[in-house]
Amino acid sequence: MQKVVIIGATSAIAEATARLYAARGAQLFLVARNAARLDDISADLRVRGSQDVFHASLDVNDLHEHARVINQIWTTLGHVDVALLAHGTLPDQVQCETSVDVAMKEFATNGTSTIALLTAMASRFEAQRKGVIAIISSVAGDRGRQSNYLYGSAKAAVSAFASGLRQRLSKVGVNVLTIKPGFVDTPMTRDFKKGALWAKPDGIAHGIVRAADRGRSVVYLPWFWLPIMLIIQHIPEFVFKRIKL
Ligand SMILES: NC(=O)c1ccc[n+]([C@@H]2O[C@H](COP(=O)([O-])OP(=O)(O)OC[C@H]3O[C@@H](n4cnc5c(N)ncnc54)[C@H](OP(=O)(O)O)[C@@H]3O)[C@@H](O)[C@H]2O)c1
Repeated sequence: MQKVVIIGATSAIAEATARLYAARGAQLFLVARNAARLDDISADLRVRGSQDVFHASLDVNDLHEHARVINQIWTTLGHVDVALLAHGTLPDQVQCETSVDVAMKEFATNGTSTIALLTAMASRFEAQRKGVIAIISSVAGDRGRQSNYLYGSAKAAVSAFASGLRQRLSKVGVNVLTIKPGFVDTPMTRDFKKGALWAKPDGIAHGIVRAADRGRSVVYLPWFWLPIMLIIQHIPEFVFKRIKL
């Protein structure tokens, strides 16, 4: 039986992923800031087949609370097979340009909090010498674009951190998986006009579980974002400055 921890468990992508693990009979430990939703999701996951569902409340920006929650997770489960970090916000880029406070808060939610959680969890995984740490970054982290470079820079920090952590923990049998979704139809993107490039949380969840099972390092979801981002990354700066993305 797999033991799975999900931080940001009320996210649409996280919930869809939790359902897949529940159907396998996994033991789940859910962490999120909305306690009422955690109760509802936990009840649903039990019906869907999860052996046990535990949960704890955490605002990820409350860094001093991280150690307590991580302690609670390992005390409850003993060890962790898969940890998925899924929390995030999509900041208003214009607000981030006019308010340093908003910009720093959004960077903390999408970047610093994840790095803090990974730092604390890494030593636990290192000690148990097995498991998968899966982090939802974003294609937005592959190149800063004027439409969302605050979010993109936070995700870039997460992707770079995950790369270094992967190299370190691979020596002790722990896999670090970086997940880079493109556009996904979730509450985060509620106000966006949807088109052909948009994916549903269910499809992303299947991709996450498959990549974790297969010991992948970095996965673009859906796969076609890999060639798209290769092109975007290779646009020369003199051209990039003239276009609007
Ligand atoms: N949707 C996309 O197009 C897309 C694309 C690429 C990457 N991603 C990434 O995918 C992940 C999941 O996002 P989603 O699309 O599933 O969006 P979502 O349904 O809006 O989920 C975002 C989650 O983050 C949680 N969260 C935000 N701030 C938090 C905080 N301070 N403390 C604890 N939890 C906090 C939210 O909790 P509350 O319910 O309490 O607000 C919510 O559960 C995120 O990392 C996101 O950046 C999404």
